[in-house]
Amino acid sequence: MLSDVVDVLACPHCGRACSAVPSGLRCEEGHHFDVARQGYVSLLTGRHSGHGGDTAAMVADRADFLAAGHYAPIRDLVAATAATAVESGGGPARVVEVGAGTGYYLAGVLDRLSRSRGVAVDVSRYAARRAARCHPRAGAVVADAWAGLPVRDHAVDLVLNVFAPRNPVEMRRVLAADGVLLVVTPEDHHLAELVGPLGLVGVDTRKRERVDDQLGAHFRPVERRPLEFGLVLDHAEVRRLVGMGPSAHHVQGVEVSSWLAGQPEVVSVTGAVELSVYRPR
Ligand SMILES: C[S@@+](CC[C@H](N)C(=O)[O-])C[C@H]1O[C@@H](n2cnc3c(N)ncnc32)[C@H](O)[C@@H]1O
Ligand SMILES: [Zn+2]
Repeated sequence: MLSDVVDVLACPHCGRACSAVPSGLRCEEGHHFDVARQGYVSLLTGRHSGHGGDTAAMVADRADFLAAGHYAPIRDLVAATAATAVESGGGPARVVEVGAGTGYYLAGVLDRLSRSRGVAVDVSRYAARRAARCHPRAGAVVADAWAGLPVRDHAVDLVLNVFAPRNPVEMRRVLAADGVLLVVTPEDHHLAELVGPLGLVGVDTRKRERVDDQLGAHFRPVERRPLEFGLVLDHAEVRRLVGMGPSAHHVQGVEVSSWLAGQPEVVSVTGAVELSVYRPR
């Protein structure tokens, strides 16, 4: 619940600490934020970049696709890596997932790290509605990562970033000196069997270098864990996978239907990602 993570949050207007009040959150300067009926709080400010993040339809497809377990190998790897990497001085770890979507990976980590608490940050309120329910020890916040994370300085032991936008300055600011950043990025052959035929948004083949360059001033890479796994998808699951991703905006349903018409009932697809572990410089 949100009340489990209020001590980690910072007011998006003045940066001061927040506390829970009956109607929501209140900072030390008196700025007030209502908690939505669904349990999340919006900490968006006027500095918002205007990008609303994933739509309701994309989030619904993502929730269904993840619930079927197709990305469980990624969740297991993230949770296992978090368990070995986090040094919270023996205390319960404080976790933030940036671009958390439904909170699927955050929930996996919180399950693995006993008594840990986590904040799911996403600019999409549809995502936040789901993330607010992802785990009993998680709270969900709507915020634009590019405008800044509404999180206190050095208040976090672990930042997660899975297939999501990265703001290196902010991720560094919120992490404790001995904290850890886990980033999951797709490899260039991730979902290759679908990317070519369906014209999906492909992966930049220099993705890893690009991420290292982007993070380099603030983080040093300490470990890489590649992961390859198979997905066996029926036609509805292929549609969800297209619908939940960046291609949802430009790939037409009719193109997907005509391609699927020539395929067997289940399609085998390669999942290929890399988990990178970073420490603050
Ligand atoms: C590809 S999805 C990944 C979601 C989740 N990490 C997962 O893998 O299931 C990217 C997420 O980033 C969110 N997002 C996009 N721009 C953002 C921003 N500027 N600040 C915070 N979240 C953002 C989207 O709303 C979406 O939920
Ligand atoms: Zn304030």
